[in-house]
Amino acid sequence: MAKNNKFKVRDLKLAAQGKTKIEWAESRMPVLAALRAKYKKTKPFKGFKIAGCLHVTKETAVLIRTFIDAGAELSWSGCNPLSTQDDVAAALAVDGVSIYAWHGMNTKEFYWCIDRTLDFKPQLTLDDGADLIFTVHNKYKNLIPSIIGGTEETTTGVHRLRKMAEQGALKYPVFAVNDSITKWDFDNVYGTGQSTIDGILRATSVLIAGKNFVVAGYGHCGSGVATRAKGLGASTIATEVKPTSALKATLEGHRVMKMDDAAKVGDIFVTATGVKDVIVGRHFASMKDGAIVCNTGHYDCEINLEDLNRLKKSVRTIRPNCEEYTMKDGRKIYILAKGRLVNLSAAEGHPSEVMDMSFANQFNAQLALVNSYKAGKKLSVNVHVLPESMDQAIAGVKLSTMGIKIDKLTKEQIKYNEDYSEGT
Ligand code: ADE
Repeated sequence: MAKNNKFKVRDLKLAAQGKTKIEWAESRMPVLAALRAKYKKTKPFKGFKIAGCLHVTKETAVLIRTFIDAGAELSWSGCNPLSTQDDVAAALAVDGVSIYAWHGMNTKEFYWCIDRTLDFKPQLTLDDGADLIFTVHNKYKNLIPSIIGGTEETTTGVHRLRKMAEQGALKYPVFAVNDSITKWDFDNVYGTGQSTIDGILRATSVLIAGKNFVVAGYGHCGSGVATRAKGLGASTIATEVKPTSALKATLEGHRVMKMDDAAKVGDIFVTATGVKDVIVGRHFASMKDGAIVCNTGHYDCEINLEDLNRLKKSVRTIRPNCEEYTMKDGRKIYILAKGRLVNLSAAEGHPSEVMDMSFANQFNAQLALVNSYKAGKKLSVNVHVLPESMDQAIAGVKLSTMGIKIDKLTKEQIKYNEDYSEGT
């Protein structure tokens, strides 16, 4: 690749380490490898510019390489101030990618990076959390006429974009990558489940077995976390606002109670709700000495740290990504990763094997936007989902790379499925 890329990363000297990390991820992402092989020659993205705002991890680097091999021009920023893997960002910069990302940036720097990715006037946006698309809609309206569409990775982002579409505020079509089965049924459950536990362990090294492990929110992400914690021997508690989810948690073997009650007995707390103020001052006031509190939802608003700061006497960093708050009454409460995504801040995010499918959907969604543009078909300005046939194709490739064979319907079975008249 011609190296006229622009970038701002922590330290280019980390590039060699980042390169081997990317190679490790690449070896575990066969679905992306298949897409890369398929589109390497035809280069369907040739002449198209994509601005991306998504965690800069070794898995994202594999997605970026897949887009580049398929002909795209890219400019990238991270979507969280604490999730960038500096060695990966350095490797991408050395490789010729325009990238603006470093671990530990402040909010002003975060938006500066997004602004820079828009300098090259993209026709496509790719988001995880919708900060890029919001920035386009709020600050760079002039870019909208030349934007074909966007894609969104996460539940929180999709929720917000649907609200925008309902209120007529959305100005270009978006694919909800999150809503593909091969994304939410795997990434959200097994990815968040494992990587959240990984983050807690790296930040604390505590024993999970025997602990009262409280998960706020029993959606796909929360249920994944609770199931993994239970598997490690924790006594799990779920808090919920939705009766059906609370019922599901109960039937899946978790105790369900209000956060006011869980706060008094929990040893470890994880928020996974997508809403703000899930753990607030009165909860901190009733927590046990030594309680560990973290968040795995997209935004850092689920744990109210302002409340905690009002209640504390002092704070010190006790380990990387683990801050000890000493309360005025002498109790100690531990906050991980400053209340930001613990799985990406204290660990490396979801494993490559699961991101393989999520990112195959990202690739397919961007390709669907480009293909409809090339065909002169205008997608409605709304939030779209990819067809289920694409999920089945992704799952099929994944299974075959795992050496797993499955059955096929016979002609008679297909006929039976289509014939509603057959009964007893
Ligand atoms: N979101 C969760 N895990 C991730 C990862 N490993 N890379 C990029 N985005 C992620």
